[in-house]
Amino acid sequence: MKKLNLKYLMLLMLFMSCKKEIENNDFYENLEKEKKEKLFFNIGKVYFENNCKGCHRKSGTDNFLVYAIKDDKYEFDFLRSFIQNQDSLIKSGNELAIKIKEENDNRPYRHKFELNDNEIKSILYYLKN
Ligand code: HEC
Repeated sequence: MKKLNLKYLMLLMLFMSCKKEIENNDFYENLEKEKKEKLFFNIGKVYFENNCKGCHRKSGTDNFLVYAIKDDKYEFDFLRSFIQNQDSLIKSGNELAIKIKEENDNRPYRHKFELNDNEIKSILYYLKN
């Protein structure tokens, strides 16, 4: 019994030291980061294609949205309200929202998407990268 315990203890120590090596390894950390960024990009791509691509393009013509995001034209809080409920933003008298409408010939279309913060952030990440 005593022998067995010692074996387990040694295995545990070996495991802990391996884990530590991975945790302090730059290469491993960069790989993890890259993996997460790629995943976030691809999630954003899917959300963009399912919700926005009907009217906005990432390249070619109709790509003003990409430039607005790349140039950080708007704060995230504004973008979230704009995407989730453009109509209520306009009705509440938000000057920027009203200005955007005026600059676009007061088209009747209003953005109203059921997307949460992370879903919106993934779309913005996809457009930026
Ligand atoms: C049915 C067409 C349509 C869809 C779908 C659409 N948009 Fe738009 N979007 C527009 C129009 C038109 C404008 C110009 C402003 C306006 O008239 O409200 C615009 C403008 C914008 C702007 C402001 C850009 C600027 O430079 O001022 C943002 C941000 C935006 N859209 C984000 C999105 C996102 C994100 C999605 C998908 C979740 C989306 N839109 C889906 C039609 C659409």
